[in-house]
This record gives sequence, structure tokens and C-alpha cells, in this order.
Amino acid sequence: MEKLRLGVNIDHVATLRNARGGATPDPVRAAMLAEQAGADGITAHLREDRRHIRDADIGAIMEATSIPLNFEMAATDEMQAIALSHMPHAACIVPEKREERTTEGGLEVAGDQNRLGHFIGPLADAGIRVSLFIAADPAQIEAAARIGAPVIEIHSGAYTDFDSEGDVAARDAELARIVEGVKLGHDLGLEVHVGHGLNYDTVAPIAALPEVRELNIGHFLMGEAFFVGLDAAIAGMRARMDAARA
Ligand code: PXP
Repeated sequence: MEKLRLGVNIDHVATLRNARGGATPDPVRAAMLAEQAGADGITAHLREDRRHIRDADIGAIMEATSIPLNFEMAATDEMQAIALSHMPHAACIVPEKREERTTEGGLEVAGDQNRLGHFIGPLADAGIRVSLFIAADPAQIEAAARIGAPVIEIHSGAYTDFDSEGDVAARDAELARIVEGVKLGHDLGLEVHVGHGLNYDTVAPIAALPEVRELNIGHFLMGEAFFVGLDAAIAGMRARMDAARA
């Protein structure tokens, strides 16, 4: 089975920095530590309101680390220009406005195929690996394949929310949908990633799916890092991923 990559999302280090408006804690330092702790990539979301990372963080993260940057961005001209000027390894297109979002929280691809198809073209032509952050909905997955996205990231937020609420039946139904979605994406020739809300309890059933190539995890790891340090938090996640994979 191919190795399951762990992308560590450092956005919440930036959120904490921004809460005081100063320079600490530094998300670039978190990215360097994540690399040392065995992360396979860094994920960061430049939001339109810059509530997580800021523009200057992008180049600084790319300079300070040698693992790939997965740049999360809305499908806007501004973000496209920023991605093209920095040339991250990957760009994950995420919904930012309500009308771009499906009820499950993913990007509305099926209803916006023409625009998104045109939008991802220049990124792909420049050599940036484009992924689309979508719900485990067959219509969205098929639309992603139709517009030529090489990668999808399936939104695990509903699964992890139901788990934290203790609604086991709803959680298991969501997990079953993710399993089907992962298989469909893989059968359509897409590389399949999963992310949002994953923690030590919810990661194993996802990591066990052989078709999943990458997980992107941030909030839980950064919270855990307060108590045990970022390297131990990442090592704990890596160990659970590897155990589930085996
Ligand atoms: N994947 C995508 C596309 C995201 O936007 C995020 C952040 O919301 C994550 C993964 C990581 O989610 P979390 O921080 O809940 O682990």
C-alpha cells in the first residue's frame, strides 16, 4: 500500500498570532517544526480576510521548508494571481462564500463547472497540482473529474462533528459515505485526499482506506501541541495513521 502522506495545516498558529497583531507565534516556525517532526507537506489557507496566514507567510514558509506547500485558496482572481506568483506545489480550491458551498460544506463543483474548469486551467498549466475540497457526494466527485482536476480532498467535517457530538449512527453513516466517495474518486482516476476535523479518534478508519493518499490536519494537532508539543502531536498522529494503514 502506498504511504499515506500527512499534510500539517499551520493556519491556527497564524490565527493565534493575529489575535495580538504581533509576530508570535510564528507560523513559519511551526512549518519548520512540522517538517522536522515528519510532516509530508504544509497546508495553509490564505483567506480573503487574512484571518489565518498573511501574504508574506507564503513565501516565508516555502523558503524555510523543503516539503511541498498545499496552498488553500478561494476561486478568485486575486488568489489565482497569488498562487501563480508563488508557485506552490499544490493548490486546494476551497469555498469561501456561502453560494460556493454545498450543504455539507464542500465546494459546489457540479453547479459551477464552467467557471471552475476555466479557473483551474491556468494553475494546472503552470504546473500547480490542483485539488478541489468537496463533500463525499457522487455528483461533486464526478464533476471534479469532468473538469479535469487531478486531485479531490473529501471533506470529513460532518463525520468528525457527529463523532464529537457522540451521534454514533450519524457518524457511521457519514463514514460510509466517505468510504464510497473515496472509492468513486479513485475509480475515476482522481488522487484522493481527506481532511477537516480529524483527530486521534477519527483518523484510523480514514487512514485505513488504501485509496486515500493524503490527510490534511490542523486544528487538532495545534491544540494538542499546547499540551505535548508539536513534534509529539505529529508523531502521535503519524503513529495512528501508520497503525491503521498496517
Ligand atoms: N483541508 C482543508 C481543505 C481545510 O480547509 C482545512 C482547514 O479547515 C483542513 C483540511 C484542516 O482541517 P482541521 O484544521 O479541522 O484539521
